Amino acid sequence: MSRPTEVLTISPEAIARAAAAIRAGQLVAFPTETVYGLGANALDAAAVAGIFAAKGRPATNPVIVHVATFADAEALVATMPPIARILADRFWPGPLTLVVPRGPNVPDIVTAGGPTVALRVPAHPVAQDLLRACGVPIAAPSANRSTCLSPTRPEHVLRGLDGRIDILLDGGPCSGGLESTVLDITTDPPTLLRPGLVSVRQLEEVVGPIRRQTLPDATIARSPGSMKRHYSPTTPVEFAADDGWEQVAALVDQGFRVGWLAFGKVKVIDTAVIEELPIEPRNYAAVLFEALHRLDDAKLDRLVIALPPESDEWLAVHDRLARMSQTKASRERQRPEES
Ligand code: TXA
Ligand code: MG
Repeated sequence: MSRPTEVLTISPEAIARAAAAIRAGQLVAFPTETVYGLGANALDAAAVAGIFAAKGRPATNPVIVHVATFADAEALVATMPPIARILADRFWPGPLTLVVPRGPNVPDIVTAGGPTVALRVPAHPVAQDLLRACGVPIAAPSANRSTCLSPTRPEHVLRGLDGRIDILLDGGPCSGGLESTVLDITTDPPTLLRPGLVSVRQLEEVVGPIRRQTLPDATIARSPGSMKRHYSPTTPVEFAADDGWEQVAALVDQGFRVGWLAFGKVKVIDTAVIEELPIEPRNYAAVLFEALHRLDDAKLDRLVIALPPESDEWLAVHDRLARMSQTKASRERQRPEES
C-alpha cells in the first residue's frame, strides 16, 4: 500500500509530530547511533504489524524494543536478570541490545511469539527525544526492506521505504554505521546472538566470559534475524582473502563492470569503481554500509570485497560480510551479457 512519506528535518515541532504519529499507530523512521530504525508503538500490535508489512519481514523474526531509560525497560520484562543493571550502567544509552524474559504487556508480534524480548536504550539525541516525547516504547528494526543493506543515511531509508511509511525524521548520517550487539542474558553465561558495535572484549570486561554463537546457521533458532542471507547488496559479491586485486583484474578481463571494496589504500585503476575502507575496525564499520550503498547505486556486475583480518575486533564486520554471500544461481542470472 502506498502513502506519502513526509521527510521532517529535526526541530522540536518535528519531534512532536513524529511522537503524535507513533501514538496514533503510524510508522516513523528515525536515526539512532547505529543505523536508522523503523519505529512503531511497541504496545500496539496492529502498528507493529505495519512494520513487518513495510519491510517485507517474516513474522518469525522478532524486533527490538527501544526505551528511554532502564526504568522503562523494567516495565516490559517478567523479571530483570541482575546482570542487566550492570550492563546497562556501563553500556546504556548505547549500541547494546539485551534479550530478557518478556513481560505480559508485550504483544506477541514483537517477540515472534517467543518468551523473550530484546530491549535497547539508544544514545542518539533524536531517538531519545522521540522516546521521551511519545511516552511509549518503540519497536524498531533497521529501516530497510528485509534482507537488504541497513540504512545509515536518510536517503537509504527512502530508497527502500518511500511511500511505505508515514514519516522519516532526517537526522543526517548515523555515526556508528553498524547495528547494536545483541546479547541474550537469559542464559548463564550470557550468549552473544549478534556481534555489533559493543565488542565482545568490552562485554567480557564487565560480566566475564560470554558464550559466542555467531555462526548464522547455528543461531537461526535463537535469533531468527541471523538467518543467513541478510544485509545484502543487490550486486553479486565475491570475497578476496588477499587485497582483491587479482580477482578484480580477472573479472574486468571477462568484461564485468566491477566494484572493489578495498581494505585501506590500493593502487588506483580506472577500470573498476574503488571504495577504500579504513583499516581500523570502528572506522571501517562506520562507513561499510554507506560504501556498499554507493557501489550498489553504480549498478555494477560484481563486487569484490577484500576481507579484513580475522581477529576479535573485526567480529561484527565479518558477521555482516558473511551474510552478504549469494548463491551461484543468483550470480549466473546476472551475467553481463544477459542483463
Ligand atoms: O542497532 C540496532 O540494533 C538497530 C537499531 C534501529 O536499533 N536495530 C536492528 O534491528 O538492527 P533488526 O530488527 O534489524 O535486528 C534485530 C536483531 C535480529 O537479529 C532479531 O532476530 C534479534 O535482534 N532479536 C530481536 N528480538 C529478539 C529476541 N527476543 N530474541 C532473540 N533475538 C531477537
Ligand atoms: Mg536489520
